[in-house]
Amino acid sequence: MTHYKALRGTKDIFLEDARLWQFVEQTATELFNVYDYKEIRTPIIEQTELFESGIGNTTDIVSKEMYSFTDRGDRRITLRPEGTAPVIRAMIEHKLHTKERLPLKLYYKGPMFRYERPQAGRYRQFHQVGVEMIGEDDPASDVEVISLAYRLFQSLGLESLTVSINSIGDDTSRPVINEAIRQYLGNSNWMEKSNCPNCKSRFRNNPLRILDCKNKTCKAYLNGLPDIKVLQSQECQDHFHSVMEGLEQLQIPFKVNPFLVRGLDYYSKTTFEIISEDLGAQNAVCGGGRYDGLVKQMGQPAMPAIGFAFGMERAIRLLKDLTSFKLKERPLVVVIPLGKSYQLPCLKLLDDCRSSNIRSILSPSSKNNLKSALQYANKLNATYALIFGEDEADSKTIILKNLVKRSQEIVAFSTAIEELKKGLNA
Ligand code: HAM
Repeated sequence: MTHYKALRGTKDIFLEDARLWQFVEQTATELFNVYDYKEIRTPIIEQTELFESGIGNTTDIVSKEMYSFTDRGDRRITLRPEGTAPVIRAMIEHKLHTKERLPLKLYYKGPMFRYERPQAGRYRQFHQVGVEMIGEDDPASDVEVISLAYRLFQSLGLESLTVSINSIGDDTSRPVINEAIRQYLGNSNWMEKSNCPNCKSRFRNNPLRILDCKNKTCKAYLNGLPDIKVLQSQECQDHFHSVMEGLEQLQIPFKVNPFLVRGLDYYSKTTFEIISEDLGAQNAVCGGGRYDGLVKQMGQPAMPAIGFAFGMERAIRLLKDLTSFKLKERPLVVVIPLGKSYQLPCLKLLDDCRSSNIRSILSPSSKNNLKSALQYANKLNATYALIFGEDEADSKTIILKNLVKRSQEIVAFSTAIEELKKGLNA
């Protein structure tokens, strides 16, 4: 017999974990509503070209990590590795940018796929929750998006995180920056000393990306590089300055990391990440930035945009590590009919409990005496047992047994729900 297993880098999410996931998703959704973001759901599969041109052919994601295949109609299809390019594709396809008021503020959640080497915090199917704000270039929108990410982790109870920000300049600054990096490294003996094939190809295709190389030799050389922000246009520098001012005003603690360039090619100006040392090597729980060139690249008049996405698996892992974190559970009520003939009124009572939003279950038919039914209720940490048998049927009453306080009262069957509510709220 074959024992099937979840594929490497994928995970089943169930029971307690699934509740944690719901908690994080609900907390995020509520906050997104407060900031006036609307939901968008895009398909999991897209045309491969969308990501090749959107994220960039030289990025690791596109060149090494995409789950791509040719479908039965000979189309090149890819399981989405991220949410931004699909959101922009959908916006353009449905002309949301011309029909809706601007800025367009959208949020999304769902699975993403990258063929990476699985390790702690890095999966092949992982889940992102993200936002995109499209149609606003004012630094106030950068401040809004970064502060939304920060407030989100605060509302989850995750406080000891670092917001790391940088600016990588716009289209006019980029050639200047790339040239400066080439010159600086070209004038050193980095080419001979470096044992990093990735950066050697980046040197030709995308020098900016060398900045976030983790290789020790590359890092050592880069330490002497002038800050790329001073090479940017005055406009870019002013923009970054205003973003920092805004974050200070909102008392969002941040650190400027001059090497933060991010792994997707669509970024311009502000880039940011929220990181936690508790996550080990994969320390970014959230990443984002401004991408003012992406809409134009998809054939539309240029439109500025900024957004972020956070990884659910990493956020959940941080929550689980918090000793102070405990999910609140609704109290549970177990309805116990003392024999088959008392089941019908109990079913009705159960139905009434549920109509009143009381989490409630019927004791299983196998627990057919009071002792085993109560043991069952206690095992489930139920708060109340409602017991109904011959005596109660005769006197039109029911026993409300508080399993936490170990007390009980007999109340009229017709008032059971009211009395139960009072007890639960006490
Ligand atoms: P990203 O930095 O590639 O950005 O991913 C965002 C977050 O997704 C990361 O910070 C991390 O928490 C999580 N993540 C990424 N890859 C994995 C993985 N293999 N396993 C587990 N978690 C992972 C983006 O995807 C951009 N689309 C974000 C964005 C939105 N920029 C602007 N708007």
